[in-house]
Amino acid sequence: MSDVAVATANELHSNVTDENIAILVERFYAAVQKHPTLGPVFNPRLEGRWDRHMSQMKDFWSSVLLRSGRYSGYPLGAHIGVPGMAPERFDDWLVLFRQTLDGLYEPPYADAIYAMAQQFAQRFSGALFGQER
Ligand code: HEM
Repeated sequence: MSDVAVATANELHSNVTDENIAILVERFYAAVQKHPTLGPVFNPRLEGRWDRHMSQMKDFWSSVLLRSGRYSGYPLGAHIGVPGMAPERFDDWLVLFRQTLDGLYEPPYADAIYAMAQQFAQRFSGALFGQER
């Protein structure tokens, strides 16, 4: 790899765009699929439906972070009755999401996006299990 390519590969974003949201979502769910505790929850549930999930998640984060209005749905409802769902999975999800953010964004941007994710995780966990994370 040339020096230029290495520099580009290591560059962290200091803005949020639909282009880097797409990379975030792709990296995160690639890691989710291989994760020892998250993979077994996501993979059976989304078998054959990953493409739609990925585009939904890009729309979701675009709406949350850029107020694009591209997502309209009921995200809490999507998590009701998913086999293997447990309060601890939110901890695993947040750790993996944080790691993905740190590889992609400058710290203030990673922190801000993480804070939004944490709010959703807290609300979902509270509503599903009566236990905020
Ligand atoms: C314990 C951690 C989590 C697990 C195991 C999980 C799992 C899933 C699964 C399996 C689906 C697809 C449901 C289906 O179509 O059958 C889904 C959808 C979704 N998840 Fe999560 N999720 C987690 C945490 C989160 C968090 C923290 C957020 C928000 C930051 C989030 C946002 C969404 C959204 C927006 C959808 C799409 C909802 C729709 O159908 O419109 N999830 N999740």
